[in-house]
Amino acid sequence: MEKKIAELKKNIEDELNDIKSGVALYELKTKYLLGKTSEIPALMKELGKADKDERPRLGQLINGLKDWASEVISKREAEIAKLERAERYKREAIDITMPSKKHEEGSLHPVTVVKNQLVEIFSGMGFKVLETREIEDDFHNFTALNTPKEHPARDKQDTFYINDEFMLRTHTSPGQIHAMTSIKPPFKVIIPGRVYRADDDATHSPMFHQMEGLAIDKNISLCDLQGMLDVLVKKMFSADVKTRFRPSFFPFTEPSVEVDVSCFECGGKGCKLCKGTGWIEILGGGIVNRKVIENCGLNPDEYTGFAFGFGLDRIAMLKFGINNIHILYDGDLNALKQFKD
Ligand code: PHE
Repeated sequence: MEKKIAELKKNIEDELNDIKSGVALYELKTKYLLGKTSEIPALMKELGKADKDERPRLGQLINGLKDWASEVISKREAEIAKLERAERYKREAIDITMPSKKHEEGSLHPVTVVKNQLVEIFSGMGFKVLETREIEDDFHNFTALNTPKEHPARDKQDTFYINDEFMLRTHTSPGQIHAMTSIKPPFKVIIPGRVYRADDDATHSPMFHQMEGLAIDKNISLCDLQGMLDVLVKKMFSADVKTRFRPSFFPFTEPSVEVDVSCFECGGKGCKLCKGTGWIEILGGGIVNRKVIENCGLNPDEYTGFAFGFGLDRIAMLKFGINNIHILYDGDLNALKQFKD
């Protein structure tokens, strides 16, 4: 038995020297120390078989071995833990002088920037945002807007028809009909959204964006529209920008106006942006035609309103100095990135 004790001691010493990881050390501990069946406790059990006189001395020897093994193993445990920690620190070390990965930052599309600005300004004036459908029927896109089948104004709009009845909306004005037939007056709404026309050149894209505005109440006049627009353009462009109304025609407004703003680039002296005129056309509008109010089931003697509509793409182009509308839709990120708000 004494031989066996010396042998175990030697084995533990040898194996301990080769151990480099906490896992292997734990395995060694299980082999010799832990539980009832590992080597040292098993030896203790065998004590019963030894000579009665020898037992105390052998017992002491085995206990001595056990204490010694526990001590050397825990010492090694501490060493390995320290080593493993050092290795982990090395492995996980961050080189703060290393150049970072390029982090691409997205930006809002110029049309979204303009739309958000306008929504904020209009919200401040009590307008609610309404979004209506992009596929419209003849009634909403034309007829209810006082543009019956044979009306010459239909020729101006190159419509993408889906069938005889349905089409991609050519403007956001059908939203006026949805508003008047679903909201109880008085109300003020803006209707932003995509519109479609078969038209394609440097300043026209088959899909573009408009924002419609509609206020319905009692005794609304053109002055209300003018006052509201004055505030709007000052907030949108700059405080010294003025508006100018010119008579125009739309089947769904009477009277109708075309609205210009004084050129925010040259202050009205005349430049490339305003083509030397000092004014830039931005919007169509007018007093909602009695017939349209009637078509929506409201009494035109009781309710009046103003309506207006403008192109968001055009405003974005003016604001960001973009001269070709296709820059907005070609998806060239390098081009679009320049127009951060
Ligand atoms: N819908 C008209 C257009 O697309 C603009 C407009 C809207 C005019 C509302 C008057 C009133 O040109």
